[in-house]
Amino acid sequence: MNTQALIDTAKALVADNKGLLAMDESSSTCRKRFVEQGIEDTEEMRRAYRELLITTPRLAESVSGLILFDETIHQAKKDGTPFIDLIRQAGMIPGIKVDLGAKPLAGHPGETVTEGLDGLRKRLEDYFKLGARFAKWRGVITIGDGIPSDAGIAVNAHALARYAALCQEVGLVPIVEPEVLMDGNHSLARCTEVTEQVLHAVFTELNAQGVLLEGMLLKPNMVTSGTDSAEQASVEAVAAATINTLLLCVPAAVPGIAFLSGGQSAELASAHLNDMHQGRSLPWAVTFSYGRALQQPALSAWNGEPANVEVAQQALAHRAACNRAACQGAYNTGMERS
Ligand code: 13P
Repeated sequence: MNTQALIDTAKALVADNKGLLAMDESSSTCRKRFVEQGIEDTEEMRRAYRELLITTPRLAESVSGLILFDETIHQAKKDGTPFIDLIRQAGMIPGIKVDLGAKPLAGHPGETVTEGLDGLRKRLEDYFKLGARFAKWRGVITIGDGIPSDAGIAVNAHALARYAALCQEVGLVPIVEPEVLMDGNHSLARCTEVTEQVLHAVFTELNAQGVLLEGMLLKPNMVTSGTDSAEQASVEAVAAATINTLLLCVPAAVPGIAFLSGGQSAELASAHLNDMHQGRSLPWAVTFSYGRALQQPALSAWNGEPANVEVAQQALAHRAACNRAACQGAYNTGMERS
């Protein structure tokens, strides 16, 4: 293991208040997003959409790295230039989602475990050779009646740590993503409790399996009220609950925390991140690794039409700039009007 290279990459991914663009939707998730928008779902349309994202002018001013899906890492621009080369030429770091999705956990209705450990070492070696320098694995935790169970949390934490250790052996920085879903009518307090339990379990496993904390990044959910809860916590309450939970659970040796957006609107995801940076001195870089909250305005603007590529790219560059400002506590709703 080249420890210093891992540390350098992990630091570079969260340097200068930049964040990550998660564009690693599986083909089936991408199809879902296209269908919602009335966009035809073909391999060529997915390629064209990913080309739009990757070639967005000035994206690298706010984004340090891009998380790709297996299909995308093998694709190229219309002129034949591999996406991986375009990303590196723009000064960004290519990454790859390597889990194979959350599957029902035997004997635990309503819970899942993420699969993909079998054969993972070889797949990671292949991605490294292709040029990827970091990876991502998402464990999914649902809050509901009697769940998550201790077993549901334990198996996901164990898999995340096994994945992370394999990544580091191969030279890829692991992004460890335990996502407590926003779905449900739970309170902010319940999300706080579950997120804390999950993060404790994850770091216990990471330590037990010898993962180098300095050479990884954490990609957690923010602590929020459930989407269907009648009482929605304020921006300030979400930021405070999130940071307090992370301070309890995440060692300062971890160089960065990069949030998922989890279904929050683009503007709310920026506002929450911004508030975390008000008057706080934090032990880690705290930034974004959003999928929908970065892409949705661009996807809507594009709508599958080549004539809309430029305006869609402007929408993506704008969201990225808003979130970079949020990482400095300098985001405000006036930025949306301009
Ligand atoms: P969202 O920001 O849309 O939650 O996506 C982030 C991600 O990478 C999910 O795994």
